[in-house]
Formats: sequence, C-alpha cells, structure tokens
Amino acid sequence: MRFTLFFILFSQIFLVNSFAQVDSAMLKNMELSQKCLKCHGHTKYQYKNVFFENMVTESMCLNKIVDTNLYYEGVHKSFKCTDCHSEEYSNFPHDGMLRMEPAYACIDCHGGDENFAKYNFEGIEEEFNNSVHSSNLGEDFSCWMCHDPHTYKLSVRSSESFSNMILYNNMICLSCHSDISKYELVSDNENPNILETHDWLPNQQLHFKEVRCLECHTNVSEDVLVSHQILPKEDAVKNCTECHSSNSKLEASLYRYLAIEERSEKGFIKGALFTETFIVGANQNTLLNKISIIIFILLFGGLLLHAFLRIVLIKK
Ligand code: HEC
Ligand code: HEC
Ligand code: HEC
Ligand code: HEC
Ligand code: HEC
Ligand code: HEC
Ligand code: HEC
Repeated sequence: MRFTLFFILFSQIFLVNSFAQVDSAMLKNMELSQKCLKCHGHTKYQYKNVFFENMVTESMCLNKIVDTNLYYEGVHKSFKCTDCHSEEYSNFPHDGMLRMEPAYACIDCHGGDENFAKYNFEGIEEEFNNSVHSSNLGEDFSCWMCHDPHTYKLSVRSSESFSNMILYNNMICLSCHSDISKYELVSDNENPNILETHDWLPNQQLHFKEVRCLECHTNVSEDVLVSHQILPKEDAVKNCTECHSSNSKLEASLYRYLAIEERSEKGFIKGALFTETFIVGANQNTLLNKISIIIFILLFGGLLLHAFLRIVLIKK
C-alpha cells in the first residue's frame, strides 16, 4: 500500500513538474527579454556613465521602441529577443558592427517545417517574389516590411471580429501608403495619396472599412489563405460587379476563411456570412486547450492508476 501511494505521488509530481517546465521556459525567456525591454520598452532609457559614475537618462528613438504588450500578443511571443538578435546586444553601448548582422528571413525558420505546412510559406514566398513590391523594390522589401517582427499576429485565420480583421490587414498596407516616413525607407519616389488615387470609388470610407486592400490588389489564390501577389496597379479591380454581383469575388477571397471554418466542423452555423460574431469560440486558445488536456490526463491517469493498483493489491 505504501508503495502504491509513493508511486502515485511520484508519478503526479513528475507530471506536474513537466507541466511546470513549459511555463518556466517561457518565463525564463520573458525574464531575459525584460533586460532589453527595460530600455526598448520605454520612451526613455538609462545607463551608467563609467567615467563620471552617474546615471544618464536619454530618450529612446521612437522606431527602436518595442511595445511590450503587443510583443506578448504576437506569434513569436515565446521568443527571447536574442533568439533573433545577437547575444552581444546584452552589452551597452551596443557594438556598432552589430547593425551589420543579417536578419533572419521567415523561410529560414518556417521553410520545410511540417508544423507550419498549413500556412504554405513556400507558396507565399513565391507569390511575394512576383508581387509589384518585390519586382520594383527588390531585396530591400522583405517580409518584415509588412510583418512587424515584434508585433505581428495572425488575424485572418483567428480574428473574432470581421471589422477588426479588415482594419488590421489594411493598417499593414497603410503603414506605408499613408505614412511617408516608412514609405521613404524603401523608395525615393513620391508617395501617391491613397484617397486621391481611389476617388473613383464611391463611399470610399465604407469600402476601406468593409473590404481589404488585398481584395482589389491581388488575384484569388488557391494554395494560400492570404494572397501575397500584389499586382501592378493596372491590374487592380475597378469593376464594381466583381463584388456587387451574386457571383462575388469576395466569396473566394474575403469570406473564404469562413468556408474553412465551416469545413473544420466546429459547430459553425452556415449562413452567417455577413454577421460580426461568426467565429467566436471557433479559435480557442491552443495553450489553454493543451493545459486543460494535460490536467485531464493527469486526473484521469491518477484515477486509473489508483484503481488499477488497488485491484492488484486487493487480489494479493
Ligand atoms: C541601456 C539601454 C539598452 C539596453 C539594456 C538594450 N539596448 Fe538595444 N539599443 C539601445 C539604444 C539607445 C539603441 C539605439 C542605437 C544605439 O545606441 O546603439 C539600441 C539599439 C538596438 C538595436 C538596433 C541596432 C541598429 O541600429 O540597427 C537592436 C537590434 C537592439 N538595440 C537590440 C537590443 C537587445 C536584443 C537587447 C537585449 C539583449 C538590447 N538591445 C538592450 C539601448 C539599449
Ligand atoms: C522573430 C524574430 C525577432 C524577435 C523575437 C525580436 N526581434 Fe527585433 N528585429 C527583428 C528583425 C527581423 C528586425 C529588423 C526589421 C527590419 O529590417 O525591418 C528587428 C529590429 C529590431 C530593432 C531595430 C528597429 C529599427 O527599426 O531600427 C530593435 C531595437 C529590436 N529589433 C529590438 C528587439 C527587442 C528588444 C526584442 C525582444 C523584446 C526583439 N527585438 C525581438 C526580429 C526579431
Ligand atoms: C528565428 C526563427 C523564426 C523566424 C525568423 C520567423 N519565425 Fe515564425 N515562428 C517560429 C517559431 C519557432 C514559431 C512557433 C512559436 C510558438 O509556438 O511559440 C513561430 C510561429 C509563427 C506563426 C504562428 C504559427 C502557429 O500556428 O501558431 C506564424 C504565423 C509565423 N510564425 C509567421 C512568421 C512570419 C510571417 C515570419 C517572417 C516575417 C516569421 N514567422 C519568422 C520561428 C520563426
Ligand atoms: C505587402 C505586405 C505583405 C508582405 C510583403 C508579406 N505579407 Fe504576409 N501577410 C500580409 C497580410 C496583410 C496578411 C494577413 C494578416 C494575417 O491574417 O496574418 C498576411 C498573412 C501572412 C501569413 C498568415 C497566412 C495564414 O494562412 O493565416 C503568413 C504565414 C505570411 N503572411 C507570411 C509571409 C511571408 C513568408 C512573407 C515574405 C515571403 C510575407 N508574408 C510578406 C501582408 C504581407
Ligand atoms: C475597390 C477596389 C480597391 C480597393 C478596395 C483598394 N484599391 Fe488601390 N487601387 C484600385 C485601382 C483600380 C487602382 C488603379 C487606379 C487607377 O489607375 O486609376 C488602385 C491604385 C492603387 C495604388 C497605386 C496608386 C498610384 O497612382 O500609383 C496604390 C498604392 C493602392 N491602390 C493602394 C491601396 C491600398 C493601400 C488600399 C487599402 C487601403 C487600396 N488600394 C484599396 C482599386 C482598389
Ligand atoms: C514598406 C512599405 C510598404 C508597405 C507595407 C506596402 N507597400 Fe505598396 N508600395 C510601396 C512602395 C514604396 C511602392 C512604390 C513602388 C515603386 O516605386 O515602384 C508601392 C506600390 C504599391 C502599388 C502600386 C504598384 C504599381 O503598379 O505602381 C500597390 C497597388 C500597392 N503598393 C499595394 C499595397 C498593398 C495592398 C499593401 C498591403 C498588403 C502594400 N502595398 C503594403 C510600399 C509599401
Ligand atoms: C472588392 C469588392 C468591391 C468592389 C470592387 C466594389 N465594392 Fe462597393 N461595396 C463592397 C462591400 C463589401 C460593401 C459593403 C456592403 C455592405 O455594407 O453591405 C460595398 C458597399 C457599396 C455601396 C454602399 C451600399 C450601402 O448599402 O450603403 C455602394 C454605393 C457601392 N459599394 C458602390 C460600388 C461601386 C459603384 C463600385 C465600382 C466603382 C464598387 N462599389 C466596387 C465591395 C465592393
């Protein structure tokens, strides 16, 4: 009997421990990132002047600030800063040569990885390489231009609100197309005013709120959820009936992921095409899911083990 108890206790401690390790790895990374964020997470930073032994306060350059909250909402929240940046950034002042270090590309980590197959990174890269941005601006225009390395989160696949999803997507484009300082980083040309170049479109505000820029500026793509081949402006959709018809293009682009959700049979109600609340609950938090499964296995395993050992011991 004592052995049984010991065994159950041991197995449970072991399970609880391995469960805690998941958290502690993330916590460890958060702790390490905090060393960077104490400067990069704020508008000002401090360091010690070793000559005068005094603390100096200076303001942090705006585009070197990483929003801590958005960082921990992003797809790479489990990373510590030095997973992508050199360990040598731990020293301050940073070595000037560090800025020469090449940045990872998405495909360096995601290419050929089964875990991410559903996103089809290879297909996205191919489309991206054929987009106007790549053709006109070359290597200067990388995936990071649209996917902020510190804040990017999935939206089309996981957003609970249709209008937030559209807003998030369009803000990616507008971060350059309505902001000269980011546009200038990749082009010397003048930045055309979006409101003027789209003045042929009635109800402009409504349209920019109800459809993504991508709807008119890409073709529908079979292999990837979010089409990445931005077409030259001559090929953009201007024809109203592409959308305003019973055979709307939107069925295959903007509303497409609804169909995917439907197919995944998560108890999704068909016909909710134009409502706001359609995917609530369809995109549960996977970490919480895992945790609850672990707890379930833990409890159930413990019970089974207990029952099993009791039966065995009673027979003896
Ligand atoms: C004491 C404050 C401080 C700490 C701590 C700090 N940084 Fe910085 N970092 C700066 C400042 C200020 C700059 C602006 C350019 C410069 O002074 O080198 C900067 C610039 C950078 C740059 C941009 C370099 C470039 O010009 O392209 C990166 C990347 C960076 N830091 C990463 C990190 C990482 C990663 C950590 C943690 C391991 C970290 N920093 C810790 C203050 C800090
Ligand atoms: C998933 C990889 C990744 C992680 C994790 C990451 N970074 Fe970065 N970071 C990048 C890339 C890539 C760039 C360059 C972006 C570009 O070229 O547009 C960058 C740029 C920077 C810059 C320079 C920004 C500028 O415009 O000058 C700073 C500062 C920085 N990172 C700090 C941090 C800090 C602090 C953390 C942790 C809280 C962190 N990074 C985590 C990939 C990452
Ligand atoms: C340094 C390696 C690295 C780079 C560079 C990188 N990723 Fe990731 N990414 C990962 C890892 C590892 C995960 C899984 C993180 C986790 O599960 O906590 C991930 C997660 C993701 C996810 C969420 C996947 C899911 O199913 O939850 C997306 C989407 C994603 N990355 C897109 C990108 C994009 C887009 C880029 C380039 C702009 C990029 N990544 C660059 C390593 C990387
Ligand atoms: C011109 C802007 C732009 C560029 C450049 C860009 N993307 Fe995207 N990407 C988007 C937008 C907008 C979305 C939709 C937002 C979302 O739901 O994640 C998206 C979504 C994604 C997704 C999630 C798709 C899904 O199935 O849920 C992945 C993965 C991705 N991009 C990878 C890449 C890679 C890899 C590159 C470079 C080869 C790249 N992107 C370059 C704008 C861009
Ligand atoms: C209803 C379809 C539609 C939507 C939505 C749309 N566009 Fe356009 N866009 C067009 C068409 C058509 C043109 C070509 C206009 C012309 O040549 O007269 C164009 C032109 C452009 C140009 C080229 C301007 C120039 O003169 O060089 C840019 C940049 C652009 N759009 C960006 C965007 C962005 C960013 C969004 C989202 C905020 C967006 N578009 C939404 C249809 C659309
Ligand atoms: C990093 C900045 C940046 C982002 C983000 C960005 N663009 Fe652009 N885009 C540019 C620049 C710069 C040009 C002008 C290229 C040139 O000079 O030929 C351009 C050109 C265009 C054109 C006109 C192409 C032509 O034929 O002249 C369209 C359409 C366009 N972008 C759509 C988009 C859409 C849609 C998004 C979001 C998915 C987006 N852009 C995101 C910088 C950006
Ligand atoms: C990319 C798809 C797309 C294109 C192209 C498009 N529209 Fe729309 N349009 C929409 C969507 C989505 C709505 C919002 C529907 C809703 O609110 O029910 C909308 C709304 C409208 C409305 C407002 C309807 C209302 O109920 O207030 C008018 C008017 C309109 N569009 C006219 C046009 C005209 C004219 C053109 C061509 C010059 C055009 N649209 C091109 C997708 C499109």
